[in-house]
Amino acid sequence: MFNLESIIRPNVLKMKPYASARDEFKGAANVFLDANENNLGSLAGENYNRYPDPHQNKLKATIAEIKGVNPNQIFLGNGSDEAIDLLLRAFCTPGVDALLCLPPTYGMYEVSANLNDVHIDTVQLTPDFQIPVREVMQSIKPETKILFICSPNNPTGNSIDPESIETLLDNFEGIVVIDEAYIDFATAASWTTRLEEYPNLVVLQTFSKAWGMAGLRLGMAFGSEALIAILDKIKPPYNINEATQELVLQALDKTEVLKDMVEEIVQERELLVQALPQLSTVEFVYPSEANFILVKVKDANKLYNYLLNKGIVVRNRSSLKGCEGCLRISVGTLEENQELLKAIEEFGSKDNG
Ligand SMILES: Cc1ncc(COP(=O)(O)O)c(C=O)c1O
Repeated sequence: MFNLESIIRPNVLKMKPYASARDEFKGAANVFLDANENNLGSLAGENYNRYPDPHQNKLKATIAEIKGVNPNQIFLGNGSDEAIDLLLRAFCTPGVDALLCLPPTYGMYEVSANLNDVHIDTVQLTPDFQIPVREVMQSIKPETKILFICSPNNPTGNSIDPESIETLLDNFEGIVVIDEAYIDFATAASWTTRLEEYPNLVVLQTFSKAWGMAGLRLGMAFGSEALIAILDKIKPPYNINEATQELVLQALDKTEVLKDMVEEIVQERELLVQALPQLSTVEFVYPSEANFILVKVKDANKLYNYLLNKGIVVRNRSSLKGCEGCLRISVGTLEENQELLKAIEEFGSKDNG
């Protein structure tokens, strides 16, 4: 049985969070002399001399409506990368505990683990990038506190079979993190709809991909109220700056634009999926539910450099186990995708096909 208190790091369970100036005061006031701000104003603009809301209440209320969850089930981070780091800090004792991740996958789970001195166990995804569930269950040790699943997976682009995830949620007594950075481009429903069923489930999403706000750095973690309260307790008090809170709040009104952009990106993705296999240098195009495509080519390093010379940057993933010979290509605009296809075709026609 999953027991949240028993897997929180003892020091985290015991510690008191930082109490910010605005937390200690409740009520109405018009003279604020409590936070050592510059009361004359800001060189950057109207509100920026004041610290931002550490609880991001307005933002959370609106996100909660859009996502169909309770505001207390939302943690907001400086990118979902901050949520990944805080999950490790909350549940994994450095030098003692471990996390399990399933490569080829997003690299920050490993980087965060290394930074926090958390041991990493890995189980390679199957050749079609699904979870070998039995092997994963066998790799779980008493020290394994978190299992990271990325769906749709980066860099492979596929969604992970929900039945495999369900089996792991049912049988693993640690935290199962499902990283849904690319969920807006997928056909599968988000796991946020299953939070009530699984107290050990954390779902990560981000405003960096479909919402087009990578520069503002805002990521979300969804979980039970008790679990989210732990992340809130250990986060830096003002982790989401005022400009980000304001700009994202305005953008949340524009869900119609989001829908249109996602539709266009998915349409462009499908055009690339059809066009790429026609090119002589392309060996295989993996199915994608994300805004990028993993493509196996005849000479990945050579093609990568050829594209670079043409001013086109893609991601060379060919040194990654399971992705040998592969480039990961983000879906661009119609014009950018045409330029890419033309360049790959040219490469093939120069005896590289
Ligand atoms: C799977 C996955 N998770 C998380 C992130 C990081 O997102 P954020 O910009 O919110 O930190 C990325 C970014 O590429 C990603 O691919």
